[in-house]
Amino acid sequence: MVKTSFHIGLNSDQVKDVSVAIIPGDPGRVPKIAQYLENAEPLANHREYNSMKGQYQGQTVLVISTGIGGPSAAICVEELAMLGIRRFLRVGTTGAIQDHIEPGDIIVPTAAVRMDGASTHIAPLAFPAVADFTMVQAIREALGEKQVKHHVGICASSDTFYQGQSRGDSFKKGFVHQEMARRFEEMKQLNVLSFEMECATVFTQCAAYGLAAAAVLGVLVNRNRGEFPSEAVIKATEDKVIQAALATIPKLK
Ligand code: URA
Repeated sequence: MVKTSFHIGLNSDQVKDVSVAIIPGDPGRVPKIAQYLENAEPLANHREYNSMKGQYQGQTVLVISTGIGGPSAAICVEELAMLGIRRFLRVGTTGAIQDHIEPGDIIVPTAAVRMDGASTHIAPLAFPAVADFTMVQAIREALGEKQVKHHVGICASSDTFYQGQSRGDSFKKGFVHQEMARRFEEMKQLNVLSFEMECATVFTQCAAYGLAAAAVLGVLVNRNRGEFPSEAVIKATEDKVIQAALATIPKLK
């Protein structure tokens, strides 16, 4: 029987042969990834969920945006899992908080600090938001072969881009309540590499469901040196992280 989905606008028939779902946050990034697939076809475009499908080196790949943040990412992964998808590769951007990481670098998170809310609806906070080990290995193999500079470690996922990431350039210029400011400093001391907004939800969900998820994150900014990336850095980093994700596909066993 063909299964349908509530939000993402796909059915099980359309994704039955998919080996991996590439999940950027941004709907606009979907065609930018799909342009490298053979026989790429648009599938659906509903709310924040834009999807296309095609072949990459013999594997059928679904590219679908999750929207920004844990709640919309959780819906996307939940419905894809119900339709039969078992492997998820997030392609995203991130803000580094360690001095040695430069804009344009790639981060491969092994786990995420659960500063989101959505993952707490899926598993208690004691449960780790951990990436799939074999997928992380596949990403590292791909990046190693291409000699792409990358950092492997823990990222933090926040529900908010401004307050939760202790940004000084928000509406209330520099005001972040004490708990958020303290956490940001604590994350730096605890060797967390960067902030982003979806990994904790997706990693918790997939680990708890027995599915596989990992991520490649392009660094847009080093938060210790600035708040805002240049257009050139955004474009170059986006291209680089897309290529990193594609290079990983043939390495997935
Ligand atoms: N995405 C985030 O969530 N934070 C950043 O600083 C950059 C990208």
